[in-house]
Amino acid sequence: MAVTRTFSIIKPDATRRNLTGAVTKMLEDAGLRVVASKRIQMTREQAEGFYAVHKERPFFGELCDFMTSGPVVVQVLEGEDAVKRNRDVMGATNPADADEGTIRKTFAEGIEANSVHGSDSEENAAIEIDYFFDKNELVG
Ligand code: TYD
Repeated sequence: MAVTRTFSIIKPDATRRNLTGAVTKMLEDAGLRVVASKRIQMTREQAEGFYAVHKERPFFGELCDFMTSGPVVVQVLEGEDAVKRNRDVMGATNPADADEGTIRKTFAEGIEANSVHGSDSEENAAIEIDYFFDKNELVG
């Protein structure tokens, strides 16, 4: 299996509860390596651009409110089959549906405040990494 990269966000509900380290440990324990990481306050414009694919959905406005409600940690993760590996350790979007031992089952407060984002394809991972990072910020 090829070593690839994916993009992750530790969301405001998790940074607020001081869970950055605990979430990162679960990512690392799942075989992912953090090759870039920064704590930022997302602007409304950044959040709307990042979630543009959801702009017609009823939850779009609240999702952008939530994502700008506090700091987030954006990360680039590397590992074998990184996109799937990350999606597996994240768990289902709604924590009520997430498997035991996943990040969302362990930490998420609800379907919106669900602690982490992870790219859903390698193509989107490349776009999302580019959205938040310069190439020279990635150190493998
Ligand atoms: P989505 O891409 O469907 O899920 P995932 O994050 O698992 O890839 O949705 C993006 C985010 O939108 C999701 O993490 C939380 C939010 N969201 C809601 O607030 N309500 C909803 O009903 C859905 C489907 C998503």
